[in-house]
Amino acid sequence: MSDIIILAIESSCDDTGAAVVANGNILANVVASQSIHEKWGGVVPELASRAHMQHIVPVVHEALQIAEIDKKNLSAVALTAGPGLIGSLLVGATFAKSFALALDIPLISVNHLQAHVMALLIDEPKPSFPFLCLLVSGGHTQLIVVKAPLEFEIIGQTTDDAAGEAFDKTAKILGLTYPGGPLLDKLAQQGNHTIHKFPKPQIAELDFSFSGFKTSVLYYIEKQKKLNPDFVAENINDLCAAIQYTIVETLTDKVLKAIEQTGITQVAIAGGVAANSGLRLKLQLLSQQKGFDLYIPAFQYCTDNAAMIAITAHYQYMKNDFADQSLAPYPRVSV
Ligand code: KG4
Ligand code: ZN
Repeated sequence: MSDIIILAIESSCDDTGAAVVANGNILANVVASQSIHEKWGGVVPELASRAHMQHIVPVVHEALQIAEIDKKNLSAVALTAGPGLIGSLLVGATFAKSFALALDIPLISVNHLQAHVMALLIDEPKPSFPFLCLLVSGGHTQLIVVKAPLEFEIIGQTTDDAAGEAFDKTAKILGLTYPGGPLLDKLAQQGNHTIHKFPKPQIAELDFSFSGFKTSVLYYIEKQKKLNPDFVAENINDLCAAIQYTIVETLTDKVLKAIEQTGITQVAIAGGVAANSGLRLKLQLLSQQKGFDLYIPAFQYCTDNAAMIAITAHYQYMKNDFADQSLAPYPRVSV
C-alpha cells in the first residue's frame, strides 16, 4: 500500500494551523496565534477571519517545508469544518477546497471536537478502547465514551458555559487579559485555595453547569471591593487558586462518577483546559488513589492545533470518509 500523506488545516477560532501526517505519524505541526484580540477582551470574529487570510499561506508553506513533503505527494487535504466561528472556518475551508481541487486529491471534513479527542491517538502511550474522555475547551465541556477511533458516545455535557469559559469569564472579572485561563492557572500556582471559598455547582448526573459559579464569583468580588477597593490586587493569587480549585473539583467529581457508572478505567482529558496544571495534578493524584490509567495529550495537542485534525483525517481516510467540493462549514455542533 502506498503512503497516506495528509495536509490538515485548522482555522476554527483564532489560531491558524497546518500539519502534515504520514501513515499516522505527525511530521509537522505549525500554529500562528493571533494576539490582536487581547486588547478587546475576547476574540473578534471579523479580525480573526482577516488574520487567518494573512496567516494561512505561510503556515501551510512552513508545515510542508518542515515535513519535507512536496505537495505533489499529498494523498488528501483535511480541514476543520466545525464547530467554530463561521468566518474563520470559511477561510480554512476555502483554502483547503482550492488546494484539493488544484492537486486533484480528495478532501476530508473533520469535526473539531472529535479531533480534540483523537489527539490522544497521536503519541504513545495511547489509551485502549473503550476509554473515557473529559473534553474541556473554550466552547465545550463533555464526558465522552470513545468506543473505537471515530466512535463516540456523549454521556454528559454542560448545560450552559464551558469550563474554558468559566476560566476566561472569571479571569475577566479579576481584570486579567484575554484569554484568562492560562494566566489564571499561572497565578493560582502561587496562591492558597482555602482563603476564599466558592460554591461547587451542583447539577444532576454527568452534566455540568458553570454560569451560577461565574455569578457567585462576580457577587463575591463586588461585595469585597465595596469594603476594600484594592481587594482584587491584594488577593489575586488566592482568588485565582480558589476559582481554579472549584472548577477542577467540579470536573474531577464528574470524572469519578463516570468511572463508577461505566466501569471504564482508561481515562483521558482533551481540549484547551486539559493544559490546566491544577486539573492535570488532581487527575494524576486520583489515578494513583483510585487505580485508573490516565492519559493527557502533550501541551501542544491540547489547545487548538492542526495535528489533531491531521490524525483524525488519517483515520477517516482509512474509512474512505471523504467530502466533496459542496462541503459547507458548520458553526455549532457537538461530537
Ligand atoms: O481547545 P481550545 O484551544 O479552543 C477551543 O476549541 O475552545 O480551548 C481554549 C480554552 C480557553 O478558554 C482557554 O482559556 C483555556 O482553553 N485554557 C486554559 C489553560 N490553557 C488554555 N484554561 C485553564 N488553564 C490553562 N492552563
Ligand atoms: Zn478547540
